[in-house]
Amino acid sequence: MYKLSYDPSEYWHERGKFYKKNFHYDDNKRLQEQFLIDYLNGITGSFKSVLELGCGFGRITKLLLTKYDNITEYLAIDISPHQIENAKIYLSSINLSNKVKLDFMVSDIQSLNLDKKYDLVLLSEVLLHILPTEIDSIIKKLITLSKKNIINIDWYDDHPPRKHAPHNFIHQYETIYKKHTEPSTTTIKRIPIKRKKFLGTIDTKQSIFHVVL
Ligand SMILES: C[S@@+](CC[C@H](N)C(=O)[O-])C[C@H]1O[C@@H](n2cnc3c(N)ncnc32)[C@H](O)[C@@H]1O
Repeated sequence: MYKLSYDPSEYWHERGKFYKKNFHYDDNKRLQEQFLIDYLNGITGSFKSVLELGCGFGRITKLLLTKYDNITEYLAIDISPHQIENAKIYLSSINLSNKVKLDFMVSDIQSLNLDKKYDLVLLSEVLLHILPTEIDSIIKKLITLSKKNIINIDWYDDHPPRKHAPHNFIHQYETIYKKHTEPSTTTIKRIPIKRKKFLGTIDTKQSIFHVVL
């Protein structure tokens, strides 16, 4: 049962305690990861330093660090101390080259204060949980933290359902990014994650959003 009101900090501190235990790899997650990798393969030359926000137990962190040896620096951040503890354990099973500096930090994005920028700022299934009242300021912050690329994977539907869980939101990412990057020559792309079927495709209602600053 979902609570009718959603207090993001309280919700994620609590859910973080059980997130990894309750996590199931399903076909949608595998497809999402495949889409992300296929997409990143096209831009590998453009990221050495990565900032991942809302890293959870490190699912995407591990995926990237095992696929891309061009990465030299990776900072993974989450609001939940439990998720960060699990991420440290999950990542300890991979052999990292000593050329890679991997760090973890407990922080929410809202109060995050970093004095550097990263080639790639990445968020997988995080922005959909940001309150509509906060999404603009969060996106402004992502722009200040990125040297070049921002990628977010999130729920997106041109025809949003009338009812949804209180912790999930569809934001108009392209419009919001555009609003906060104009008048620069920023590129904003949406890549819908679609499953091939015998006849046609099925939209998973998730998209990769890529901003090139
Ligand atoms: C649905 S999980 C996704 C985890 C991971 N990115 C993945 O794709 O497997 C959302 C994650 O975002 C974190 N989170 C939610 N709101 C956050 C915020 N404001 N700042 C930092 N992390 C946040 C949660 O604690 C949780 O780990």
